[in-house]
Amino acid sequence: MSSENILVLGSTGASGLAFLQEVLPVPDGPKLSLLVRNKSKLPQDLIEKYNDKVIIVEGGLNDEDKLDQVMKGVTTVVSFLGAYMSLTYLITRAKPTPIGESFHLIKRVMQKHGVKRLLALSTPAHPVAGENYTWSQYLTTKILPPIMVPQGSAEMDKIAEVCADEQFEYTIFRVPHLTEGSKDLKVAAGLYGPDFKGTQQLSRKSLAKWVFEETQQKNWIRKQPALGNY
Ligand SMILES: NC(=O)c1ccc[n+]([C@@H]2O[C@H](COP(=O)([O-])OP(=O)(O)OC[C@H]3O[C@@H](n4cnc5c(N)ncnc54)[C@H](OP(=O)(O)O)[C@@H]3O)[C@@H](O)[C@H]2O)c1
Repeated sequence: MSSENILVLGSTGASGLAFLQEVLPVPDGPKLSLLVRNKSKLPQDLIEKYNDKVIIVEGGLNDEDKLDQVMKGVTTVVSFLGAYMSLTYLITRAKPTPIGESFHLIKRVMQKHGVKRLLALSTPAHPVAGENYTWSQYLTTKILPPIMVPQGSAEMDKIAEVCADEQFEYTIFRVPHLTEGSKDLKVAAGLYGPDFKGTQQLSRKSLAKWVFEETQQKNWIRKQPALGNY
């Protein structure tokens, strides 16, 4: 079995589940360590089938003991974490960012265990130097999300800000609208602008495949590519 061990954060969400489905069947693939708030949300059939490759720890993102426990032997951390839509925050316009803030502790625990590689989900609303939006990209990434999902959008921004830390081999993958489309859709990666060939749609299955390939190929170290199917 591979000596690789990927800690998946957000494995109970839709993209996290797509990642488990993509990676667990890989022959000689990595072990997956999962930090979850509630393990009953995991797909029991899949977990049972590959139980020799899965380590599950129940705990929150601010529970240092649980983070320390789940980080043992980990070689790479992948995050699909993000906030749920909230009517309360839509009305109050409050923008707390507990997930983004939790990465300060997650990074400290990574350093304690000598883990350098960190891949984290964000969105193209998070600004990257040199990016030059077309007007439609600007409207759908910079204007609409902060209006319609103010807190979720703030979380995406904070996650990217805290994770893009030069002490780590980070990759911030910035996703557009996520869909249930095929795994075989091609994924464009790069900066937004007139030359970006991706659409503003991305299937979670093709995202999972792209992220796993990136853990192997390391093409985007210390970079923040926007992704989109084409
Ligand atoms: N849907 C879209 O089109 C879209 C577009 C751009 C960005 N996004 C962002 O991308 C993220 C991933 O999308 P998705 O649809 O695959 O995810 P999702 O199904 O919404 O799952 C979110 C994941 O984050 C975890 N989570 C949320 N708040 C948490 C907290 N406070 N502490 C610990 N874990 C927490 C959830 O854990 P539990 O299962 O324990 O709740 C779950 O595993 C979304 O959360 C969203 O913010 C979505």
